[in-house]
Amino acid sequence: MHIFLYGASGSGKSTLGKELAHALNLDFLDLDAQIEIDLNDSITNTIAIKGEKVFRDAETAALKNIVRDKENVVALGGGALLREQNRTLAEKDGKIIFLETDAETLAERLSKDKNKRPLLAGELKEKLTALLEKRKEHYDSFPLRVNATREKNQIIWDIQRKLGRFHSRSMGTGYDIIIQEGGIDNIGEMLKERDLRGPILLVSDSNVAPIYAERVLNALKSTGYSAQQSVIPAGEANKTLETVSQLWRAALNAGLDRKSTIVSLGGGMTSDLAGFAAATFMRGCNWVALPTSLLAMVDASMGGKTGFDLPEGKNLVGAFYPPRLVLADPETLTSLPKRELRSGVAEVLKHGIIAAPKLFNLCKNYEGNLPEIVRRGMAVKIKIIEEDPYEQSIRAALNLGHTIGHAVELVSGFELLHGEAVGIGMVAEAKIAEKMGIAEKGLATIIADALVALGLPTEIPQHLPLPDILRTMQTDKKKSAGVIKFALPVKVGKVKVGVEIENLENMLN
Ligand SMILES: NC(=O)c1ccc[n+]([C@@H]2O[C@H](COP(=O)([O-])OP(=O)(O)OC[C@H]3O[C@@H](n4cnc5c(N)ncnc54)[C@H](O)[C@@H]3O)[C@@H](O)[C@H]2O)c1
Repeated sequence: MHIFLYGASGSGKSTLGKELAHALNLDFLDLDAQIEIDLNDSITNTIAIKGEKVFRDAETAALKNIVRDKENVVALGGGALLREQNRTLAEKDGKIIFLETDAETLAERLSKDKNKRPLLAGELKEKLTALLEKRKEHYDSFPLRVNATREKNQIIWDIQRKLGRFHSRSMGTGYDIIIQEGGIDNIGEMLKERDLRGPILLVSDSNVAPIYAERVLNALKSTGYSAQQSVIPAGEANKTLETVSQLWRAALNAGLDRKSTIVSLGGGMTSDLAGFAAATFMRGCNWVALPTSLLAMVDASMGGKTGFDLPEGKNLVGAFYPPRLVLADPETLTSLPKRELRSGVAEVLKHGIIAAPKLFNLCKNYEGNLPEIVRRGMAVKIKIIEEDPYEQSIRAALNLGHTIGHAVELVSGFELLHGEAVGIGMVAEAKIAEKMGIAEKGLATIIADALVALGLPTEIPQHLPLPDILRTMQTDKKKSAGVIKFALPVKVGKVKVGVEIENLENMLN
């Protein structure tokens, strides 16, 4: 999938294109520079001597070559897509991002560039205003747009979020994170593009396998991969060493070696187990995550935490082991049971409380906004893991609601879903934060109201004994030197990490 940056001269296509390519670990190409190489002359000369048609034909020819080649970021000329044929070429094999600017910003930028553009000197702003007016209808017709008058890093991040494409560099060799509707049918191509080797073991659980495994196996086999599947029993109660060992043996039987690839297709339970099996099989083979639950998309599939549960507590054994690719296909959420989906939205609300008030509000209408919620939710997690991959500081913010939530989930005997328990944990932790003077007054009510509107629980169920919950929290791995450290909310959009709470029992009452 190529990424085309489009907009008027001076909108930043080349500068932003280079930085975007670097951020996404892709090559960059400037279409006008390529045309000048092909023509062996400057564009200005070509138009003056041979006429605009010769230039436009060269533009079409160059575009045809680009789309045949491997994916990259391309800065287009300011009128490159006026020709319908060019637009069709770009749209068929890529996504077009339109950079929005105004005549004033363009004039300011281009005036610094006077030497290169002598024709634009003088009444530059008037000329640009007229050009933008003339192309208004054309420029307005591109749906993927970013405001390109802001600070560079902000624009680059905004483009990645809108594209649903990121590259994580924080662990190992780095990996792409891609959100693509219908993407599971392209997984074979995507593995090939990344030189990932077979044989492949496809891991999914007993709920997900009957719905999607065949499609994924077909996509793999049609691109030449040898692939077998291992179906694990669904449910958190099966996130055990026994299931891991089922996967180790399946990998052996399927002929995997340490250069082969395990593909996880499913929720967070599946990716935690498949990732851990990959981390340990033959001392580590490749793995790829195809998350199919909202929770796995916005959280579990990224960041390289893998592992399994012990009867004493959740995720007590594991490894940091990054995947080689994460592909989230929001279309798979259509089959996710409603209760699971709502539980995932609780985790997205958590991301909103940590760093994204807009996302927090978007969750109120989650059903109509799922792809947008997935892109924004994943973006929050990616920013955090890039900054602190091994949870030395800010990554602990992701534990918001989890210290209490994990214990509640476990004591409920998994009667409560992970996200439901996290929602309960967030409200309890917000109440404590208010009592401690850390949170803004009323925050617990704001969070509880959002959960109630989603049909999610907000209180620890009365039949769960508090002493059991407190004891379970003591075993939680996030305690360091015998002290439990909390991530507590300050307001929607801000969290404080590393907080110790004295007399937790009283605080919870
Ligand atoms: N590694 C991490 O960083 C991290 C972060 C958060 C949570 N987790 C872990 O993730 C797990 C929770 O994730 P989860 O809620 O996805 O649990 P899950 O994998 O158990 O999936 C929930 C349920 O939904 C079903 N399901 C999933 N996708 C489906 C689909 N598209 N259609 C139909 N059914 C589908 C599953 O079969 C299961 O019954 C926990 O084990 C938690 O510890 C890990």
